[in-house]
Amino acid sequence: MELTDIADDLAATLYTEQQIQDKIEELAKRIDADYAGEKLLLVGVLKGAVMVMADLARALTLPIEMDWMAVSSYGSGTQSSGVVRILKDLDTDLTGRKVLIVEDIIDSGLTLSWLRANLSSRGAESVEICALLRKPDAAKVVVDVKYAGFEIANEFVIGYGLDYADKYRNLRGIGVLAPHIYAS
Ligand code: PRP
Repeated sequence: MELTDIADDLAATLYTEQQIQDKIEELAKRIDADYAGEKLLLVGVLKGAVMVMADLARALTLPIEMDWMAVSSYGSGTQSSGVVRILKDLDTDLTGRKVLIVEDIIDSGLTLSWLRANLSSRGAESVEICALLRKPDAAKVVVDVKYAGFEIANEFVIGYGLDYADKYRNLRGIGVLAPHIYAS
């Protein structure tokens, strides 16, 4: 699905498919260099990270392994509380592993902050983070993101894995959702 297919639902276009792919290539080059000769485990956080994971994994020249977690934040409405429940855990033993968490977006930072601590406590040798988007103005905790894509304003963004009510994840680009969609 293209951004132009849902033009009425958008307040603005943020990133085109090409801009996203260029950024993923850039991040992949750095990851390839930093983990050369290593056995890296990519951990994707469902569901938003599926697109980033699929494209980043293929952009890497490293032989990686992939695993997935699904987590849910306790909290009211769209506000995450920092207390996270694991809905689907990893299949992989992390003892001695180099782990790279792959995320679509860091909003408050609470999910990633909790996740990094959780994975580190399982005996991983290192746990780093790759996130395509980051909202500095929404941060409630500081998260050290080694591989960060774009910094964006505190707006409701959709596409490339990011949803509103589970819709729009299959957009090739990323856009700002028009307020009339979520205000009604
Ligand atoms: C999004 C995103 C991160 C989290 C970031 O997931 O994929 O996991 O929110 O928010 P935070 O920095 O405020 O903790 P969401 O809970 O929307 O689930 P989804 O990936 O299934 O859409």
